[in-house]
Amino acid sequence: RRATTVPRRRAVLATVPVALAALVGAAAPSAPGTAGAPGAGDPYFPLSGNGGYHVQHYDLTLRYDITRRHLDGTAVLTARTTQRLNRFDLDLTGLTVTGVTVDRTPAAFRRAGQELVVTPRRSLPAGRAFRIAVTYQGTPKPVTDPDGSQDGWIPTDDGAFVAGEPQGAMTWFPADAHPKDKASYDITITVPQGRTAVANGSLAAQHTAQGRTTFHWREDRPMAAYLATATIGTFQVQRFTTRDGIEVYNAVDPREASAAAPVLAQLPSVLAWESRLFGPYPYRTAGAIVDHAPGIGYALETQTRPLYDSAPDLTTLVHESAHQWFGDSVSLTTWKDIWLNEGFATYAEWLYTEQHGGDSAQKTFDALYATPPGDALWAYPPGDPGSGKNIFGKPVYARGAMALHELRKAVGDRDFFRILRDWAAQHRDGHGTTAQFTQLAERASGKRLDGLFHTWLFTRGKPNRA
Ligand code: ARG
Ligand code: ZN
Repeated sequence: RRATTVPRRRAVLATVPVALAALVGAAAPSAPGTAGAPGAGDPYFPLSGNGGYHVQHYDLTLRYDITRRHLDGTAVLTARTTQRLNRFDLDLTGLTVTGVTVDRTPAAFRRAGQELVVTPRRSLPAGRAFRIAVTYQGTPKPVTDPDGSQDGWIPTDDGAFVAGEPQGAMTWFPADAHPKDKASYDITITVPQGRTAVANGSLAAQHTAQGRTTFHWREDRPMAAYLATATIGTFQVQRFTTRDGIEVYNAVDPREASAAAPVLAQLPSVLAWESRLFGPYPYRTAGAIVDHAPGIGYALETQTRPLYDSAPDLTTLVHESAHQWFGDSVSLTTWKDIWLNEGFATYAEWLYTEQHGGDSAQKTFDALYATPPGDALWAYPPGDPGSGKNIFGKPVYARGAMALHELRKAVGDRDFFRILRDWAAQHRDGHGTTAQFTQLAERASGKRLDGLFHTWLFTRGKPNRA
């Protein structure tokens, strides 16, 4: 959730036609096998993700020198080909690759922009499980997104703030970095003693030797690369298990501790409330990473353990927690559908307010609807933001939530909340599209809703009231 609005806009990759990107990778297929595409085919981020294989597991072993800002890494990926493959790409930007093996045999590699192009000694047959190991090192740098914001590995005064949405995963590990491809993760990070490294899932091991501490984290549920973190800082750690059996691990920068404490104290009740509304919490672990990282201006729903750039307010906690269902468990297939993440998490905020003595969702809707046609809210339709520079804009968050409120009014509360729960249950640990959501809503309610969704998700300008 954005704390501030993003200043400058910058059109980087968003303008590269997909066809061009596909052409570059598919050029001159050499027998036997063909090259995997350099991108997953997403028009907003044409080079994010890759073709020709899927990753099942990432095993990342990292060591970070905070003063030198130097990262040493080994990434071992367990993958499976989806075609006969004589060459494939991983997403990786900056850093120096010192070696690549495929099935433990050294492979040829080269760098081309944000692509690490790997040519195994022998081509891989279709449907074959294989292992990729990449060793790399260097000073990671964040990427500047089309909207001018930064993501990826962002150094702080005492470590690093690591947030990868939409394309920052490639700044710290080689990945198939499109949410289409989800995998489990082991993330092991060694930092100077006294600092804490926090990633997703459960803490499998922690040990200190020779002035360094190693944290081994494991996320066993499928996770999109952008939701992985390895945030490092001087953190106060709090661990406990909720009544529902969820293991909580909170890491808080001491400068944010007093402001964060009353809000983090609400995490178990927020998750319990959301579980009643959206169905069971999708994970076994939870928590928060509250960093002190001025200038970032957003929080991220890093899987199981959202990352905040400063002490969050309760609304932001509700928002990032709601993303665990909508965005993390049910993932995007294409960035164009970003309202399925942000519209839902924003509507969760409205519902929380409504059910905790604040304004009704209707009142929130009305206040937004009253904004004049020239307001940024109506600048583009949430179901078709047009490019990567618009994915975190007001229409996606607020008008996306307005679309859900219109749905709720059209089908009634019973069906509406059933639709939300069915959506989370049917696509759990998987993916969803806008078309699948609208179809589910129509089936569950027995109503024709194409007009409603067309108006609220796809028409330009301020919709007329029904
Ligand atoms: N998904 C985040 C949230 O709304 C926002 C991430 C913004 N990322 C960025 N690079 N501007 O919770
Ligand atoms: Zn969000």
